[in-house]
Amino acid sequence: MEAGSRDKRVKWIVICAAALILAVVLFLCLQGDKVTVPEYVFTYAENQTPDYPTTLGGQRFAQLVEERTQGRIRIQVQSQGVLGSETEVIKQMQYGGIDFARVSIAQMSDFIPEMNVLQLPYLYEDSAHMWRVLDGEIGERFLGYPQEYGLVGLSWYDAGARNLYCSTSPIRTLEDMQGLRIRVQEAEMMSQMMNALGAVAVQIPYDQVYAALERRQVDGAENNWSSYETMQHYEVAGYYTVDEHIRIPEMQICAQHTWELLSDKDREIILECARESALYERELWTAHEMEARENALRNQVQEIYLSAEEKEKFQAAMEPIYQQYYEEFGKDIEEIFSQGKKGRE
Ligand code: GCU
Repeated sequence: MEAGSRDKRVKWIVICAAALILAVVLFLCLQGDKVTVPEYVFTYAENQTPDYPTTLGGQRFAQLVEERTQGRIRIQVQSQGVLGSETEVIKQMQYGGIDFARVSIAQMSDFIPEMNVLQLPYLYEDSAHMWRVLDGEIGERFLGYPQEYGLVGLSWYDAGARNLYCSTSPIRTLEDMQGLRIRVQEAEMMSQMMNALGAVAVQIPYDQVYAALERRQVDGAENNWSSYETMQHYEVAGYYTVDEHIRIPEMQICAQHTWELLSDKDREIILECARESALYERELWTAHEMEARENALRNQVQEIYLSAEEKEKFQAAMEPIYQQYYEEFGKDIEEIFSQGKKGRE
């Protein structure tokens, strides 16, 4: 072969190889830049602050769903109650205005009566008892009840135990409760519980509690350490009585309207991500609750413990509430009791 034509061939081979490399690089770049346009963009309502365990759980849920649907489903977590109070959010979800939320089951209990069973005062001996119940058959069955009301229960979140707090004086005895105006959640059972203790229950949405305490519209309120500290209620109600009168589980829910848009495969992904996020939230909860308590105590909060004798009196005062629910839900209540340590002995 002549030297000239060999040079030409080499030149062509080099040009072709360069063009091929360029094409591959270009293809890879375009792939990398490709933005997946989501098929669905959903809203998720949360009434806590952005760094609160339940909000972080919601964020984890959204992230997992986006990853596992390759960006087809995007969930935007709106915290700090910007989409409304929990009661308003639930109503909007029933009409299809909001897609997902994390709510306290207290807010569902007025129209889903079964929810009252899981939030009876002094029902669980401790956190482990509550989780045995929620992780078992009862928990699974109760996640199904909202379906009749246009909502799909996805998973259980932790909210610890709730305690009493007061701005005027420490609560040490049942006697101290008499006539106190105490804020409760917007739920019939919460009012019944407070009235049964001799106080006057005042239903106020969560985001208005600080102002109500500051203006002395109420003398006190009740909540877990995390909410008490995060919402800075300790600034206006410095006497915190650890009576653990109630554990109210929280639920991640999806609007039935939204659920119906999804394929079976996507529903499966959503359920699996909700449950994974719930485990994450539970982990965060324990640490957050402890830090919240420490921070409140650093801010001159007086922590009070009920004596065993007084605690018994508080518990005994709940008898009429149990009687009311026993008739209809006696079997479930017995089953829950049997899963406690005492019941299993
Ligand atoms: C807890 C719960 C909230 C609820 C609040 C309340 O903080 O996590 O979802 O709104 O109690 O007392 O209203």
